[in-house]
Amino acid sequence: MKKSLIVIGSLILLLLTACISEEKKEETVDSESTSETVEDYSLDIQIAGGTYGSEYFAVVAGGASNKILIFDAKYRKLVTAIDTGGPKLERTIPEYYPNLHDVHAMTFTNDFSMFFTVNWFDYEEPSYVLAYDTKTLKEIWRTPVGKGGHHAALSPDEKYLYVANDRSGTISIVDIELQIEVDTLHVGEGADYITPAMYWDGIVIDTPYLFATVNTESKVVVFDWKTNEIVKEIIVGETEGKVHGVNLTPDGKTVWVAVGGDNTIVVIDVETLEITDRIQLKNRPIHISFNPDGKFGYVTTGGHQIFKVDTMTHDVVWNQTGTIIPAHMAVSPDGKELWTLNHGLSTERYPYLIGGRPVSGVQIWDTETGALLAEMPSEGPPHEIQFIPYHAFGLQQVQDDSVTVTAEGLYQSACSSCHGGNLEGGGGPSLENLSEKMTVDDISEIILKGSGMMPDGLVDDQEAHLIAEWLLNNGIDSDVHSH
Ligand code: HEC
Repeated sequence: MKKSLIVIGSLILLLLTACISEEKKEETVDSESTSETVEDYSLDIQIAGGTYGSEYFAVVAGGASNKILIFDAKYRKLVTAIDTGGPKLERTIPEYYPNLHDVHAMTFTNDFSMFFTVNWFDYEEPSYVLAYDTKTLKEIWRTPVGKGGHHAALSPDEKYLYVANDRSGTISIVDIELQIEVDTLHVGEGADYITPAMYWDGIVIDTPYLFATVNTESKVVVFDWKTNEIVKEIIVGETEGKVHGVNLTPDGKTVWVAVGGDNTIVVIDVETLEITDRIQLKNRPIHISFNPDGKFGYVTTGGHQIFKVDTMTHDVVWNQTGTIIPAHMAVSPDGKELWTLNHGLSTERYPYLIGGRPVSGVQIWDTETGALLAEMPSEGPPHEIQFIPYHAFGLQQVQDDSVTVTAEGLYQSACSSCHGGNLEGGGGPSLENLSEKMTVDDISEIILKGSGMMPDGLVDDQEAHLIAEWLLNNGIDSDVHSH
């Protein structure tokens, strides 16, 4: 009962919004406008925030919120959040970043059926790899790795998950089938990032090596994912302690390394493993992302900047200022949007605290123009992000109208909020005994065109006809008329 009240309540809200948008339409769209322009004012696009994103989920590791945040990328809405469990401890070293229980990594298998994050609950204890089933969103296993587990990446053949352990200076090699750490690479304290082997749609990057940054030693460790052996260590920075993001271009031919301490992006050739260029970018570069076509790279910085850089000429195409530290980011699979995960959003827009912490969140940028398209506050600070297609979570059965739609169902969802659950009336007149004054065609016309405060276009032609027949029969189903 309560549930149905809520449902009816939200329907009224929806309809009210529909009425309002309907009125706006009349005010703002002049009669010569094409039908396309009218469609731009639809409720759906208003809900999406003026433009649509792509039909994907953005799955985001929620940092100190201890959660995994799942956004609908088309409508730019948080759909759900999963708590990753584990003890919630106080920070033992407050000034040290990342904070305790830092859900940082977000790595999907290439078919998106499983995903992994890494969480740590204590500085002096092992951190954990947590494996989830995408369809049920349930944790299926967890296993301990090194201390301060930060970022993770799968080998291109998906046999191993590599975890960079910031505080034990190692890379844990977790066998996915055995679900335990089977080997360890000793790389140096401040092991931070490992190049992901897949960015979009399960397309695996063609590369013999993966690359990991080691912050305190300003180096990149190159390892062969077939033998799990270190091939080379490349010193990338002159200033120690500020090397962070490391990413392969989508073609697997070059690697970009964010060397914050030197205000550079170091470019490494994958074939020769030599540094080929240093791109100067001010304000301490942190992370790197690429367009699916590989033509542009994006760099976020500790000074709140976002740079779009041409991967051929290394020229800056545009430069924008985000809110507080846009760190992690990803480009949508259609290449149109750049999602940055910001440590803080505007305190003017969100002047409150959530659980004692300032509001962090996502900003969405038009990759072409650099314009800010949308913003979603969230707990966090949010970290790594992966776009996954809708179907990876499972799709609702799309209903076949001719089989499942009934006049009663249509009436209850589109009309009853104004005309009452039993045709008795409410905001609109009673619809009892209509047969005394109207025909099926009269009623259909009112339904399709609307009347006074009654909005038009609530249902389509066929549905209007179905409801009209049902109304003439005083809301009693008749086999003769059913479709
Ligand atoms: C937002 C409220 C609202 C909704 C939703 C709504 N109506 Fe109405 N409806 C009205 C109002 C108000 C009137 C009276 C219109 C007028 O004054 O011209 C009306 C009039 C009618 C009439 C004419 C009744 C008469 O006696 O002249 C019919 C038939 C009707 N509605 C059917 C429907 C059907 C079927 C639906 C669902 C598809 C629907 N309405 C949805 C508000 C609504």
